[in-house]
Amino acid sequence: MEKVKIANRPFGPFITALIGAKVNGKPNYTAVGAYGVVSMKPILYTSLKTTHYTTLGIKQNGYFSINIPSSDIIDKTDYCGIVSGNVKSKSNIFTPFYDKAGDAPMISECNINYLCKVIRTIPMFDFEMFLGEITAVYVNKRCLTDNKIDLVKINPTVLMDNFYCDIGKKVGEVFNEGNDLKTI
Ligand SMILES: Cc1cc2nc3c(=O)[nH]c(=O)nc-3n(C[C@H](O)[C@H](O)[C@H](O)COP(=O)(O)O)c2cc1C
Repeated sequence: MEKVKIANRPFGPFITALIGAKVNGKPNYTAVGAYGVVSMKPILYTSLKTTHYTTLGIKQNGYFSINIPSSDIIDKTDYCGIVSGNVKSKSNIFTPFYDKAGDAPMISECNINYLCKVIRTIPMFDFEMFLGEITAVYVNKRCLTDNKIDLVKINPTVLMDNFYCDIGKKVGEVFNEGNDLKTI
């Protein structure tokens, strides 16, 4: 297979998310590609620029939310990545909801919401990496099929360098599609 070597930087693909935090008592949201799992333990991380308004809120309260928007709200998602709460309030752009497990706004309009309690903060150049223990998870009911989260209904947005894409279709079952190759 012919390969082309390209620049040493992350291009993606990543799943676009919105990080929520309460800053000075009001909700704020920022778009990210930098978030993810660290193991199968209930821990997620996000990595935010130190100067972001959201970063301030995470430090104030010790909680953040990771919200998975569908491509239907790509305009609002992108807006949260263009405009900083340092300059203009984003507190009314979404309908927030809360869980008693922690003080961070989650976004009603997003199909999956993770509430996380900061358990470690790792400075990384001009960013801070927040490791968060999951303290509550919500999914919009209409995104379930047979009581399981349906990725196609979630309709997350793939972020690839400088553009967004929808996911296509389901292509298989985890821990199943590779089984036939065990004999080779
Ligand atoms: C698609 C997208 C992904 C982004 N990913 C990140 C990220 O992973 N980490 C980060 O610090 N900023 C990221 N940004 C930039 C912030 O979202 C942006 O600077 C935002 O305005 C900061 O808002 P705040 O100051 O209200 O927190 C991203 C922006 C976009 C549009």
